Amino acid sequence: MRLKDKVTIITGGASGIGLATAQKFAAEGAKVVVCDVNQNGVDQVVSGLAATGATVAGYLVDVTNKDQIASMVADVKAKFGRIDVLVNNAGITADAQFVKMTEEQFDRVIDINLKGTYNCARAVIDTMVEQGSGVLLNASSVVGVYGNFGQTNYAATKFGVIGMVKTWSKELGKKGIRANAVCPGFVATPMVKAMPEKVIQAMEERVPMRRLAQPEEIANVYAFLASDEASYINGAAIEVTGGVTL
Ligand code: NAI
Repeated sequence: MRLKDKVTIITGGASGIGLATAQKFAAEGAKVVVCDVNQNGVDQVVSGLAATGATVAGYLVDVTNKDQIASMVADVKAKFGRIDVLVNNAGITADAQFVKMTEEQFDRVIDINLKGTYNCARAVIDTMVEQGSGVLLNASSVVGVYGNFGQTNYAATKFGVIGMVKTWSKELGKKGIRANAVCPGFVATPMVKAMPEKVIQAMEERVPMRRLAQPEEIANVYAFLASDEASYINGAAIEVTGGVTL
């Protein structure tokens, strides 16, 4: 119960790492708010967690839509009175080699992964400053540190997330707010499972542990970072890769 009563908003919480994070935070006693563009997915998470006795709420929110985010944040404050943790997890890929990437592909990934992260953090930050406490956790990627073939757009967003996190940690540390990024390697989620089997096998072979991460192994890191056990971790970009970069 390391996260007892911590009011936590998780974006993209209907699938993959976001879903595992919602489950982990609920198991650790948090009050979990899940938002996603997938209404059916949100409904399933909410009913699944409510059945375990967890305190949970769900919202249909597109992280590119500031009105939807504002209305969720207002509702969460009315319901729970505070916001302790934001997990900026929603993200997409739209891969193509640089010479073939369209402007639409570039802009879409920037809008969701980078601007969406900014939008959600901006919507909760005044509350956290008023409280004098808060934790901003943000999905980066090993791709944001090292780049990746076919991911000019995605790498730019994930590198950008680390830049925002380092800036927020400098600006907000004195106000009791910590900001960190998590940089997973390859994780077995719908985002990765959509890739051809051969590509997945090649990924596994590159990892010293010879396997992908399970979403729960990333959720565990978010839970630690959100907890008071991580009270002096600020401005970090924590790699959770099974050693793939070695
Ligand atoms: P996923 O595709 O399983 O889940 C992403 C969730 O975000 C989905 O439920 C989707 O509906 C939601 N979403 C998409 N666009 C949205 C929007 N505009 N507003 C709100 N929700 C939206 O993906 P996965 O793998 O769980 O990824 C989660 C995060 O972790 C992403 O930011 C991703 O870039 C990052 N990541 C994933 C890795 C992997 O290997 N799976 C590796 C490194 C980082």
